[in-house]
Amino acid sequence: MAKDIASIRVSIKTGDVLKVKGDVLAVGVFSDGKKSALFDGLDAKLGGALGKVWKLGDFKGTAGQAVVVYGNEKIGAKRVVLVGMGEKKKATVDTLRMAAVAAANKAVSLKAKSTLLAVHQGFVGKKHDAKVLGQAVTEGAFMGGYRYDEYVTKTEGKRLKEAGFVIVESDAKVSRSLGAGVKVGCVVGEAQNFARTIMNRPGNVINPPALAGIAKKLASQTPGLSCTVLDDKQIKAKKMGGLLAVGKGSAKKPRLIMLKYTPAGKGGAKVKTIGLVGKAVTFDSGGISLKPGAGMHDMKFDKSGGVAVLGAMKAIAGLKPGVKVYGIIPSAENMPGGMSYRPGDIVTTYSGKTVEIQNTDAEGRMILCDAIHQAVKLKCDVIVDIATLTGACVVALGEGMAGVMSHNDKLVKKIKAASEKSGEKVWHLPCGEEFLEQMKSKIADLKNIGGKWGGACSAGAFLGEFAGDVDWAHVDMAGTGMLDGAKKYGSSGSIGYGVRLLSTFAVDYK
Ligand code: BES
Ligand code: ZN
Ligand code: ZN
Repeated sequence: MAKDIASIRVSIKTGDVLKVKGDVLAVGVFSDGKKSALFDGLDAKLGGALGKVWKLGDFKGTAGQAVVVYGNEKIGAKRVVLVGMGEKKKATVDTLRMAAVAAANKAVSLKAKSTLLAVHQGFVGKKHDAKVLGQAVTEGAFMGGYRYDEYVTKTEGKRLKEAGFVIVESDAKVSRSLGAGVKVGCVVGEAQNFARTIMNRPGNVINPPALAGIAKKLASQTPGLSCTVLDDKQIKAKKMGGLLAVGKGSAKKPRLIMLKYTPAGKGGAKVKTIGLVGKAVTFDSGGISLKPGAGMHDMKFDKSGGVAVLGAMKAIAGLKPGVKVYGIIPSAENMPGGMSYRPGDIVTTYSGKTVEIQNTDAEGRMILCDAIHQAVKLKCDVIVDIATLTGACVVALGEGMAGVMSHNDKLVKKIKAASEKSGEKVWHLPCGEEFLEQMKSKIADLKNIGGKWGGACSAGAFLGEFAGDVDWAHVDMAGTGMLDGAKKYGSSGSIGYGVRLLSTFAVDYK
């Protein structure tokens, strides 16, 4: 039996950070030398120990650095962790979020049960709203404190079951605003770590019916959320030919998972409806167009777009915006076998458009096209799909940012705004006529692969054909979905990309 992932708790306390008791006290330090009053105050109590670390050059305040200095009876904390934040003039809210990541990561490695966070101190002022700072620190604590160890039996008994983080602030007014942000950050952080765990689970654990079961359970436990699942027979009856084709080769049959968030108290009032659509290929072997063996195990992460939507729906239900949101998650396992769809097949999609299959490994677009059409049928005012769609996007942008494509620049702007706020990076890529040209078939309306170059953009152009007249954008998270978390948050596995981006987009949508 898999064990539970350790839980993370974040709270706020008004008090003197030098006196509050804890296993670790995390202090942020910029690299450009101007150390803070807190640094100096602590240094005095610790007999110059912090200054010595600085002078020796063991700690330079570079972003991501975290060093431990041991406390004494003059301070409440057993240890001080100095966290580097880079140059002060370049600092953004994400710098603070990442400082909290580094602090939490170190604290959990030290098996600290209680960690005091004072990393926000250099940020409080006119430039930043303290609520935003509180949220960022909280999100960072969730990200940095997370470990995926459900199936590791050898650490049983040694690791913490719960890690507690307390943001400490002496000014009561600032503390109140920070606290408001902590509440939001806990909702978002919990939802994102929930998503990370499902993303990290392997293909023999998460298959389409299993994912549908998780979505149903989530909805049953969450006020404001409901869930409907179509099984393979219903998918066939509805003529969702794309989803059906991709799922045919697997013993685990496809599902269309539909979550709905309804805002409370909006009775008859007309509210905007957002459709979030996410690719959940629980394992992508490539199918008959089989992928090479090296690195194929990472294709368990091919469900990450769908799971990001699931996590975003959890966050949205907790944040309670005044918009209606559908989370539509087409899920299939792409496998080779006697029942599989083949190169050369012509598939009639839910929209009625026909697609010539030229490569069964371009399966994501074949399940998304039906789900996007479903969002159109549900009368969404705007549709955003998210998927680990193309290797070409990783070639273009690397692992640090996702590509965003749309025919509407205003919508791109909204997604970029959500990206800046959430710290989940995106970059605008084109998907216009010249790319759609590549997707035209001689024997069907479309084909499922384009030419050799610009594969992220031609895939985007293909998907855009299924949104009809509805405002639509596509996020290709192939790079960020496969990024090893060790590089960003200090612990291996998924980073849960997309939960913050999508929930911020939905909450701020106007
Ligand atoms: N799931 C993959 C995309 C992918 C590749 C994600 C690498 C992350 C890292 C997708 O289904 C796929 O196989 N796409 C093909 C499309 C091609 C056949 C047109 C690709 O990108 O190679
Ligand atoms: Zn594929
Ligand atoms: Zn895929």
